Amino acid sequence: MIEYRSIRVGLLGAGSVGSQVARLLLEHADELAQRVGARLDLVGIAVRNLDAKRDTDLPAELLTTDAESLILGSDVVIELMGGIEPARTLVLQAIASGADVVTGNKALLASHGPELYAAAEQVGAQLSYEAAVAGAIPIIRPLRESLAGDRVERILGIVNGTTNFILDRMDQTGASLEDALATATELGYAEADPTADIGGYDAAQKAAILASLAFHTSVPVDAVHREGITEVTAAQVESARRAGYVVKLLAICERLIDGETGDEGVSARVYPALVPRSHPLAAVHGANNAVFVEASAAGPLMFYGAGAGGVQTASAVLGDLVAIARRRVSGGPGTAESTHAELPLLPIGRITTRYAITLEVTDEPGVLEQVARTFAEHGVSVEQLQQSVPEGSRSATLVIGTHEATESALADTVASLAASPVVASVASVLRVEGAQ
Ligand code: HSE
Repeated sequence: MIEYRSIRVGLLGAGSVGSQVARLLLEHADELAQRVGARLDLVGIAVRNLDAKRDTDLPAELLTTDAESLILGSDVVIELMGGIEPARTLVLQAIASGADVVTGNKALLASHGPELYAAAEQVGAQLSYEAAVAGAIPIIRPLRESLAGDRVERILGIVNGTTNFILDRMDQTGASLEDALATATELGYAEADPTADIGGYDAAQKAAILASLAFHTSVPVDAVHREGITEVTAAQVESARRAGYVVKLLAICERLIDGETGDEGVSARVYPALVPRSHPLAAVHGANNAVFVEASAAGPLMFYGAGAGGVQTASAVLGDLVAIARRRVSGGPGTAESTHAELPLLPIGRITTRYAITLEVTDEPGVLEQVARTFAEHGVSVEQLQQSVPEGSRSATLVIGTHEATESALADTVASLAASPVVASVASVLRVEGAQ
């Protein structure tokens, strides 16, 4: 039997992911020791309440409420508490005490990432966070390491399972947003307070993390344009379906040329968009996640799987832990954060995309011409137009698909259309992503 040295692992948090990490570490201790070349000894689990009910039985002697002492006795600290404080302070303490850190805390990284990376870099500590974006799906390491020699042009991600479940259900059953949300809550996908998910906040945090990695540029969450799914209607989903599209909440990270300055910049944004049914992201059903990456040399890549779940996300945490422990065994620094490019972050007004606009208009001579003129006046080029007139009606529905246009040109067009006497209402404006 080989005598392995010990690497002391301190776990902060024993929620649905933390308790599974602890269970897997204890159950697979021998096998993990062989993979790493050192024993991963779980020396303690810091919790708020020693008597709280947990998903899995954990040895009572490992539980402690003294996170600070646990950190001081750990070589690697796994932070799975969530929230900003006290997680931030404890992670900084761990780094300062010479420990490496694994975290799954997207909110912390999206708001305090640069502070944490700088602290880790200063002392040569490793900071890994595969579990922070898209649960079990390996996407951080592919961006940080596998694609480090390539040039990522664009990422389209379905990174929130709750909203994908809701939109998928609306698409499959014709349900309203409210009914689909109620089902998501019943089945345990949606939180009691679903605001972070349906408001797009969770996806925006993940977009900030992905964009920072993909473009070697610090992208704070405040720079991510965010729209949730709260305004998506059953009628929009149905009309998308008839036109060969599906509505998905996308996190989009894109490298683009700023039309105003001619300089390269970065856009990170979250909104519900129309995706062609032929696109791989259209096949992402239920609460699954997927990240579609377009890299200059590699071409399109798709990463797909479970974006949440205790044991699934624990897999990502353990992957980070094993990688960190192997480095501790073999020596050498970890992967440093790379923000050398520092590209400018472009506001939403500068991005270009295609749009599908639905208008209710009066069915009279000259209406089409006036509508078309409004688009032309704002430099927005129409690609296709469909008109439907319910029998006996004096009003018509126009669905207009545009070529690529800037957000600001589109916003001006929509404002003019809304004010036009021939337009009864602008029923829907959705962006189209992933179309050729
Ligand atoms: N609430 C998230 C989701 C999972 O619905 O995907 C954690 O990021």
